[in-house]
Amino acid sequence: MQKKRLVVGISGASGAPIAVEVLRQLRAIEMVESHLMITKGGLMTLRQETGLSPEELAGLADVFYENDRIGAALASGSFATEGMLVVPCSMKTVAGIVSGYSDNLLLRAADVTLKERRKLVLVARESPLSSIHLRNMYELSRMGAVIMPPVMTYYRQADSVQEMTRNFVQRLLGQFGMKQEEWEWTGEEKDSTRSV
Ligand SMILES: Cc1cc2nc3c(=O)[nH]c(=O)nc-3n(C[C@H](O)[C@H](O)[C@H](O)COP(=O)(O)O)c2cc1C
Repeated sequence: MQKKRLVVGISGASGAPIAVEVLRQLRAIEMVESHLMITKGGLMTLRQETGLSPEELAGLADVFYENDRIGAALASGSFATEGMLVVPCSMKTVAGIVSGYSDNLLLRAADVTLKERRKLVLVARESPLSSIHLRNMYELSRMGAVIMPPVMTYYRQADSVQEMTRNFVQRLLGQFGMKQEEWEWTGEEKDSTRSV
């Protein structure tokens, strides 16, 4: 049976460890096949933030594409996928997607995801955000993309950044119905009785 294909694009915003955790969690989900590409900017942050080589990163995916291969299968809408995750997503890549300027495989795959009305989730990251960034993300949200910045969750009282990253990635994959066991916030507990 054909596995579900999830396209994962990595661009040059801070947050490469989140992308690595995405690939790690996807490997544990048997029915899912990851299709990965990374931009030149992404290669810089990958090296800086994880120390991984491009080859080591590629080894975490089921299928790896060079980002200049704009003739690859997933550059066409006829290649069925569950959708695409751009993690992390730089403001340059946000600008490329919102304007349909598809001059690399990641941008083309995002363009295809939007035109085919498939799910596009962008882990958009910059701080502070300019009006240009906010306008571009607003426009993408109106086009149906999910803007999911890598915002840490403190109410789970995680012990480490790694644990916060794992938790965030669980929520991220939940966007595609691919979550593994996930802790759910069931509301403030007023007494010892759990209420939903
Ligand atoms: C260490 C490092 C961290 C960066 N962090 C961000 C960031 O958080 N957000 C962002 O939009 N750009 C960030 N940049 C700049 C982008 O990498 C740069 O704009 C690049 O051209 C993006 O291209 P790409 O989207 O094709 O990867 C960072 C660059 C470096 C070297």
